[in-house]
Amino acid sequence: MNEPRTQMNLLASSGTQLPGYTRKRIGIVGGGQLAMLMGIAVARDALPYELVILDPTANCPASRYAKQIVGSFANPTDIKTLASEVDVVTYEIELADPTALRNCGKQVYPSPEALETIRDKYLQKKMLREKGIAVADFMAVCDTTTLEEAIERFGIPGVLKARVGGYDGRGNVIIRKKKEVMPAYESLRQQAQGLLLFEKYVPFSKELSVIAVRDINGKIATYPVTENMHNNGILDKTILPARISETATSKAVALAINTIAAFETVGTFGIELFLTKDNEVLVNEVAPRVHNSGHCTLDAAYTSQFRNHLQAVAGHELGITALKTSSAVMINLIGPPATTGKYAICGAELFKDRTDVFVYDYGKPGVNPNGRKIGHVTILADTPDITYLLEKAENIRQKIRIEITQ
Ligand SMILES: Nc1ncnc2c1ncn2[C@@H]1O[C@H](COP(=O)(O)OP(=O)(O)OP(=O)(O)O)[C@@H](O)[C@H]1O
Ligand SMILES: [Mg+2]
Repeated sequence: MNEPRTQMNLLASSGTQLPGYTRKRIGIVGGGQLAMLMGIAVARDALPYELVILDPTANCPASRYAKQIVGSFANPTDIKTLASEVDVVTYEIELADPTALRNCGKQVYPSPEALETIRDKYLQKKMLREKGIAVADFMAVCDTTTLEEAIERFGIPGVLKARVGGYDGRGNVIIRKKKEVMPAYESLRQQAQGLLLFEKYVPFSKELSVIAVRDINGKIATYPVTENMHNNGILDKTILPARISETATSKAVALAINTIAAFETVGTFGIELFLTKDNEVLVNEVAPRVHNSGHCTLDAAYTSQFRNHLQAVAGHELGITALKTSSAVMINLIGPPATTGKYAICGAELFKDRTDVFVYDYGKPGVNPNGRKIGHVTILADTPDITYLLEKAENIRQKIRIEITQ
């Protein structure tokens, strides 16, 4: 269960500078929980990095672990100000503006070109398909004529998606009947400013993901495949390792490696996958950043996705991605729907001395009516028996309550 005694880990945890590892100042566009968890990785392992974040909300989650510049993800001046304070720039949110990043005067990882392609689901899928990476059939939709054409080509069920800006399932509508086509189109058209994508429905047996990291020398490391369960379009649970065959595991890892390699850039990527009942694996979507399904790695892996992301963008060597436990599950703590106000995560104190249960509170200013991610819990088990792990996790989850305080 201990970290391997590599030179990297020994020096990092003693706070000593690694030979050839100059301290780096890293700018992060976005100061939400992903940047916050990078800050925790720096503090926990005494990594030689100073983080500066750019976020419009004062006291955003990452502000407790990094210097904050209050400003917009899309404002070129704000992004330049961030860049002027650091050695290298990265981002935790796809709303970071690629053009502003390209012109910020510093190295940006992952590249603004990768971000520009990935943030538009149509351009993303087109590129993946051109690179020979398996994705569901799709076509761009911009009006009722192209919508009809898409339905004729791919049939129903299908998924209509906003090309840009969707997250946590918002921006997607699954169409199961002909009469649902127009309401789906009307509900997304405005949000998506007419830029939509129709995708063939994949009757998946499981949703998986692989977190992959690429360093500045092109070396790629992957984490074990995770199994993801969603609730109302939001990730609810991630199980590590996924309960899938060896063949499916090899396919998922190979697909993730090909996907991250295709972007020829540096940093951590979350690669969401579908597994079909015939053991085929397809890419659902790619995130050019640390990913919710990788949160487990903070406590379950020798080197977390957060630490490895920072090491990659800083130009440093990657750490070991293997698990230091037999199995792990991450459960998202999501604010109750249709509720606003401040909240408290109660019961976390019960687990403060445990070495197998870790509760994270993102310290958000409040919950919102859409059901906001406000924290997560990671539970480790010393057995590969996932049934046992899930029972243990459910028991623990029941002891943690979200209370609305005002
Ligand atoms: N082609 C498809 N066939 C079947 N289900 C799909 C398809 N596309 C998306 N879904 C379902 O909708 C969920 C959300 O889709 P997608 O990942 O595209 O949206 P998102 O809002 O960007 O997601 P998130 O931000 O939660 O990762 C998927 O996890 C999957 O459950
Ligand atoms: Mg997704």
